[in-house]
Amino acid sequence: MQWLSLAAVTALLAQNAAAQNMLRFACSQLVVDRVDPLVNPGMTYTPHLHQIVGGNSFNISMDPASHDLVSKSTCTSCSFQEDLSNYWTAVMFFKHKNGSYHRVRQVGNGGPQGRLINNGGLDIYYIPNGKTTAFRPGFRMLIGNAVNTDNNKVQKANICHRCWNSVNENTFVGGAPCSGSDTVAIPKDPSCKMIRQTIIFPACWDGRNLDSPDHTSHVAYGQGSGANGGGACPSSHPVKLPQIMYELMWNVTEFSDRNMWPTDGSDPFVYSMNIGGAAAHGDYVFGWKGDSLQKAMDNRCNLNNDCPAAGLHSQPPEKYNACTIKQQAPEPVDGWLSALPMGEGAMRA
Ligand SMILES: *[C@@H]1O[C@H](CO)[C@@H](O)[C@H](O)[C@H]1NC(C)=O
Ligand SMILES: *[C@@H]1O[C@H](CO)[C@@H](O)[C@H](O)[C@H]1NC(C)=O
Ligand SMILES: *[C@@H]1O[C@H](CO)[C@@H](O)[C@H](O)[C@H]1NC(C)=O
Repeated sequence: MQWLSLAAVTALLAQNAAAQNMLRFACSQLVVDRVDPLVNPGMTYTPHLHQIVGGNSFNISMDPASHDLVSKSTCTSCSFQEDLSNYWTAVMFFKHKNGSYHRVRQVGNGGPQGRLINNGGLDIYYIPNGKTTAFRPGFRMLIGNAVNTDNNKVQKANICHRCWNSVNENTFVGGAPCSGSDTVAIPKDPSCKMIRQTIIFPACWDGRNLDSPDHTSHVAYGQGSGANGGGACPSSHPVKLPQIMYELMWNVTEFSDRNMWPTDGSDPFVYSMNIGGAAAHGDYVFGWKGDSLQKAMDNRCNLNNDCPAAGLHSQPPEKYNACTIKQQAPEPVDGWLSALPMGEGAMRA
């Protein structure tokens, strides 16, 4: 794709988007907290910080046997009213040369399919491909490894970063997600005004297990790579799921002055584990109302539009922005911090 001009790529993507309907919508910040009901259920508080979006029943423990996201949530920070799922990732921090850290703000994305408005948070895609079977209640999964430090152990086609030289989130930069010059590492270039992170989940299921001990082996990647809807599934994981993609726009504009950057050669941008792109990860807990996601896939509901055939209602930003919950870990996560929020001090407080 690299040889295509920007205009050609944009035209191609617009064409694909028209040919292949998919859900694409914004989710605002529900909370930023050291909580992880998937990997560390019950733990107060988890070793690193997450940014979480979706239904407001999100909590420290979400036992799939008793925690029904749909009935326990009274609102969602995502645009579709019927989506009470939770989605979360690590948080990006800027490291000042003086040793202080600052959380990087997240903004909605633009792109050829139009601008998404969110207050913090991220953009979510559900991409169907042929006959697609929606997740069942209790389904959960994660991708990425929060302790990995080796970029070579990450498939660039699934988790990647792109440098955005524009401060305008509506200016589309580059080709298909996780193609071309996208990198596993977080870009380290003062010309980046925003850094787009893409996390593409596996779209093939074993058809039996709603979860697995490592939260990954019940799912698998299909053939092909990138945001292609998942491709053909292997016989071990024959059930085709919607392909979920997270897209995060980290607005690094206010940190682009190289004079602020670490002088010891360490990275200016790290995730909340104090590791770069190699440790990027995404977590998902399914929580769509009834069979609304299945109907959305069957009826090829598109983007963040109302979709009567599936009973989907798209909420205005004021509505989903207003859905937030209280941070539980007693520690600051905003402004200049003397350490990443993973310290013992915060845990004792
Ligand atoms: C979270 O769980 C605690 C008990 O573990 C409960 O007191 C609290 O109400 C829950 N919060 C939400 C938002 O459900
Ligand atoms: C580091 O620099 C920032 C930005 O100027 C400042 O707000 C913060 O207090 C400084 N931290 C230390 C430890 O000096
Ligand atoms: C990104 O941050 C810069 C500097 O704080 C700000 O001027 C700009 O409006 C922000 N961009 C978006 C899309 O929010």
